[in-house]
Amino acid sequence: MHKVILDTDPGVDDAMAIAYALAHPDIELLALTTVFGNINIDYATRNAQYILETLGAQSVAVAKGAAVPGVQSPLPHADFVHGADGLGNVYPGSQPGSAATQTAPLTATARHASLEPLDAADFIIAAARAEPQQITLVAVGPLTNIAEALRREPELPSLVAGLVIMGGTVSEPGNVSPVAEANFLNDPHAADALFAADWPATVVGLDVTHRIMLGDSHLKSLQDHARNTGDLIWSSSRFYVDFYTRSGAAKEASEQGAEPQCAMHDAAAVAYVVMPDAFTVASGAARVIPDGLAVGQLALDRKGYAYSLPHWQNRPATHVCMSVDAERVRQDFLSIIIDHHIR
Ligand code: BDR
Ligand code: CA
Repeated sequence: MHKVILDTDPGVDDAMAIAYALAHPDIELLALTTVFGNINIDYATRNAQYILETLGAQSVAVAKGAAVPGVQSPLPHADFVHGADGLGNVYPGSQPGSAATQTAPLTATARHASLEPLDAADFIIAAARAEPQQITLVAVGPLTNIAEALRREPELPSLVAGLVIMGGTVSEPGNVSPVAEANFLNDPHAADALFAADWPATVVGLDVTHRIMLGDSHLKSLQDHARNTGDLIWSSSRFYVDFYTRSGAAKEASEQGAEPQCAMHDAAAVAYVVMPDAFTVASGAARVIPDGLAVGQLALDRKGYAYSLPHWQNRPATHVCMSVDAERVRQDFLSIIIDHHIR
């Protein structure tokens, strides 16, 4: 059984990752810690509570985290990918494209559910200290909370079972610049700080997440067979699929006649926890470019240059997923949710 804390900015694909982690019989989802990114921190936190409520998992803890990156100025939220409410404009009261979305009231549960008294970074530290080497951190938003937790508790890497990060890209083009992936671009300093520490850390980036596409027929099968969980994934993904098909990673496939589709991204990081053998990795010292032309780029030292260049010295090896058995991951995601969803 893998005990998991999911650090998340929900987020349409974040909702998929939450659904998959909740349903998986080999995962105990301890908490969601929230972070800005796809949407502002208040909406990310509200969405986390709403997703848990909808999926029948109100007992999972929610700890609110960072509103902005630690160093750089915040970038605009990705409302053109995830909708103005961060959930494909399906949060109750959301009005697509309208200011009303930003004032949509909290649902009953989101209104009443209490947040953890600790902020995300302190929650992570307390949980790791309480169960040393038992908890896997799965980070699927900007890395601000995890970097802050590491700053407050430098022993964190030895207190957790592992750190799995959805972010970055090595060979695949970026999704927010030619070289950068969104989670790393949103807080490059945080991502870079994490790779200086000696975790068992694995990156699940665009090199693999752009290979694991979900078509509308897959998403429809969830709606048909996974009740509330499937409904939420289907309805929230309409806006997201439209973005991917018109201008994102599915544009080319769509022009060649493929059905509308989207990348699963964050759920792939959850898949790594339970089936690491579905992925191949490259390892080396890793850095994230903090500013300038290549800001947000993940640079992985696959050739062992580290010994001669000061910027690369004293960095432990980070493992970065470079290929994946996409069909296996996709089928596991679908069948686990269909067979084991709570509500
Ligand atoms: C990542 O960025 C966010 O938009 C998604 O939720 C995912 O975590 C993909 O680049
Ligand atoms: Ca995310």
